[in-house]
Amino acid sequence: MNADISNLKEEFFRLYGDRENEPVLFYSPGRVNLIGEHTDYNAGYVFPCALDFGTYLLVRGSSGQEIRMNSLNFPGEVIIPIALNYLPIPKSWTNYPVGVINEFARKGTAAPAMEMLFYGNIPNGAGLSSSASIEMVTAVAINELTASGLEMMEMVKMAQKAENGFVGMNCGIMDQFAAGFGKKDHAINLNCDTLEYRYAPLNLGKRRLVITNTNKRRGLTDSKYNERRSECEKAVELISVHRPIRNLSELTVKDLWMLDTCITDPVVRKRAKHVITENGRTLDAIKALEVNDIELLGKLMNESHDSLCNDYEVTGTELDTLVYEGRKLPGVIGTRMTGAGFGGCTVSIVENEHADEFIRRLGETYTERTGLVADFYLPGIGDGARKI
Ligand code: GLA
Repeated sequence: MNADISNLKEEFFRLYGDRENEPVLFYSPGRVNLIGEHTDYNAGYVFPCALDFGTYLLVRGSSGQEIRMNSLNFPGEVIIPIALNYLPIPKSWTNYPVGVINEFARKGTAAPAMEMLFYGNIPNGAGLSSSASIEMVTAVAINELTASGLEMMEMVKMAQKAENGFVGMNCGIMDQFAAGFGKKDHAINLNCDTLEYRYAPLNLGKRRLVITNTNKRRGLTDSKYNERRSECEKAVELISVHRPIRNLSELTVKDLWMLDTCITDPVVRKRAKHVITENGRTLDAIKALEVNDIELLGKLMNESHDSLCNDYEVTGTELDTLVYEGRKLPGVIGTRMTGAGFGGCTVSIVENEHADEFIRRLGETYTERTGLVADFYLPGIGDGARKI
């Protein structure tokens, strides 16, 4: 997706004046997760890639005692007085950048007075991590403006903290990590327990990634997400009576029998089963890509969706329609939901020669079934957050 950032600078000067004083441009990508869903907060493995679209930020220091924030995506200027401690503004998009500025302040680095203009070309609320990309673009910009010299890992953790504590979404670390550490044409194999990671070349040969947006508004995502987290914590507590564990990712498919012994609630049991099997699938998928077995990767993606649908129950009619109708089409190697679920996007591996047909036929069927219009993106895999 090409970003139309040509008029970003013009808009910056229109808003803030003073054309003599050049702003600096920063960028952070969104992400798509190939497999390893709802495993990050269970200290498991994930396998995301940074996209070649994301959030741009033009910024410059200013005189005065305030931070002026504008976005081409959301109308209206928000003015934030410089503080030691910031407070969230209910329902405002500015909570993502201000949450990060607040994390810098908590570390003793006060952000300077600034003029900021954001522009993102990731569809909002589509599960492609527009939030993490706003957080990470802010982090790299403040790091540079204040000459803080923080490592990327530190900023990733700060951005996740901002989202947990300031925005109030209890997410894991995958999205901020992928936005920070993304690498062109590579997927990231991340162990969310140790934060060790390795890059895996994403070489799909005659196939490509297709992202399909359900365009379903994700109303209750945050509360459902937090509910899943507590169900996993419950499972850990119950299993620990028999065998002490810190998190579900310490178990493998060989331990699945324990779920029947330890957990009486069938819902909690299913949730734990998803996490344990998904972790196994993710490791298998990483190996499959290493030996370039894309058919196997696709099969594991299909199984991942089935598990998210039946055991974790985070899909819904729209995502299931895209996935189960998509699988009937020629040239589809694998297809699954990506991100938190409950709406948002699917990611599919489709043979190049069938991509147009996939988009046309799946688009038609989806509208017939749901009354909604899907959007299709043919993403490239890009680099992580940086100054441009
Ligand atoms: C959201 C969260 C991530 C991760 C995914 C599900 O994107 O922000 O931390 O938990 O959902 O895999």
